[in-house]
Amino acid sequence: MKRFDLRTREELSAEVARFGGELPWSDDLAVLGEPVAVAGRRLANRFVVQPMEGVDACDDGGTPGELTFRRYRRFAAGGSALIWFESAAVVPEGRSGPRQLMLTDQNLDVWRRLVDETRRAAREQGCGDVVLLLQLTHSGRYSRPQGRPAPVTAQRNPLLERAMPEMPVTEPVSDDALERLREAFVATAVRAERAGFDGVDMKAVHGYLVAELLGAHGREGRYGGPYEQRTRFLKACVSDMRQALARTTWVASRLTVLEPSDYPYGWGVAAREGAWQPDLAEPLRLIGELTALGVPFHNISMGYPRFQPYLNRPHDRALAGCPPPPEDPLRGVVRFQETVRAVRRAAGGVPVITAALSWLRHLAPPVAAGLVREGWCDLIGFGRSAFAYPDAANDILRGGGMVSGKCCVTCSMCSQIMKDAVGRGGCVVRDSAVYAPEYRRGREAARQTMAAREL
Ligand SMILES: Cc1cc2nc3c(=O)[nH]c(=O)nc-3n(C[C@H](O)[C@H](O)[C@H](O)COP(=O)(O)O)c2cc1C
Ligand code: SF4
Repeated sequence: MKRFDLRTREELSAEVARFGGELPWSDDLAVLGEPVAVAGRRLANRFVVQPMEGVDACDDGGTPGELTFRRYRRFAAGGSALIWFESAAVVPEGRSGPRQLMLTDQNLDVWRRLVDETRRAAREQGCGDVVLLLQLTHSGRYSRPQGRPAPVTAQRNPLLERAMPEMPVTEPVSDDALERLREAFVATAVRAERAGFDGVDMKAVHGYLVAELLGAHGREGRYGGPYEQRTRFLKACVSDMRQALARTTWVASRLTVLEPSDYPYGWGVAAREGAWQPDLAEPLRLIGELTALGVPFHNISMGYPRFQPYLNRPHDRALAGCPPPPEDPLRGVVRFQETVRAVRRAAGGVPVITAALSWLRHLAPPVAAGLVREGWCDLIGFGRSAFAYPDAANDILRGGGMVSGKCCVTCSMCSQIMKDAVGRGGCVVRDSAVYAPEYRRGREAARQTMAAREL
């Protein structure tokens, strides 16, 4: 399969034309530096650091560690107007691993310091006031609070159960447990406000519990079955948080528009038997309802990163032992942007944030400017680029572009660190002094586990 080798607009256009796609372009990047009004606040420019889990909490139950502080200081000094802090679990059993962040009464002061230091880093670099959001999650089917799989599921899903034979099969979480979880989401949101965040995000993407509930067609009780009930948990949490938080604190939701399981298991898929086909009808309806509940913007994503990473983070190299991407990564970039455009058309003027641009490397800024100018999105989110190139926004706004040698090369090594669940996460290529040893620790542990299994 072809790896990234594009240098110019002409080469990019020729590749996009090969599969009949479309991707806007603008050589004038000024639009990316424009302030944007969002729900009573002013974002200084159009750049957003997307949530990127660094699995670097201390061993005491989710307290931000030394590398967590370093990451957020670097993000803030890099010039993006909005930093969307990575997923933090709202209950211990909902953690993706023992080093996922948690915000508790016990570590609230450390979080306060993290928020303060992040804001200070932005000011010291002349980046002004940065807006900070915290993503709240329950890892659901992917929970591994002690490092071993301990899934909490919305419903039985034969496709996912077959794909993850190492996961014990469990009965779906009860409605009573979900009621308690609603309270935990709200309690963590209140703590986030006390820590100084400008807002919170109900994470509803990438197959985690809140996203899985959206597609729980076969679930009985208050949180499954018809659309109203499948979307109840997310909407109820957003509305409970709205009640509990100050009017000026944002409640957002990073929302999936596609959980690609065969109907009747997926979300954003057509309601007919057989292999899944995307259908945006329900996601767009939900986006309208979330707007009515006061979410300030829509940050969307799609797919299960574990099984179809090409849908949400187009890449050149796959994780160890995983098949290479089944399509040209550029197709994934274009599909993602086209989906964002469809969401924006339906969003009634509420700003929409895009992602999945990192594969484009130094071509991302003119494409991003084109996307904004042609009305495909309002804000530009960088995920892996933020790990690899935290000051990309400053380089684009002050220097007129991204430097090729600083760009993410979509090698999946940061995802590998997460999967190996031993090292702390960051860019192995561009920040190698810190993260290459973390990567090697994870790989070595994985090799030892394999060897022990073979004995
Ligand atoms: C290592 C890693 C960690 C991530 N952590 C999160 C997360 O905590 N929450 C989330 O919503 N998305 C997470 N993502 C997805 C990114 O936010 C982003 O959507 C994705 O990487 C595509 O954007 P990009 O092409 O700019 O990387 C993660 C991705 C990677 C590779
Ligand atoms: S390790 Fe670095 S270069 Fe590789 S995908 Fe992650 S951020 Fe990009």
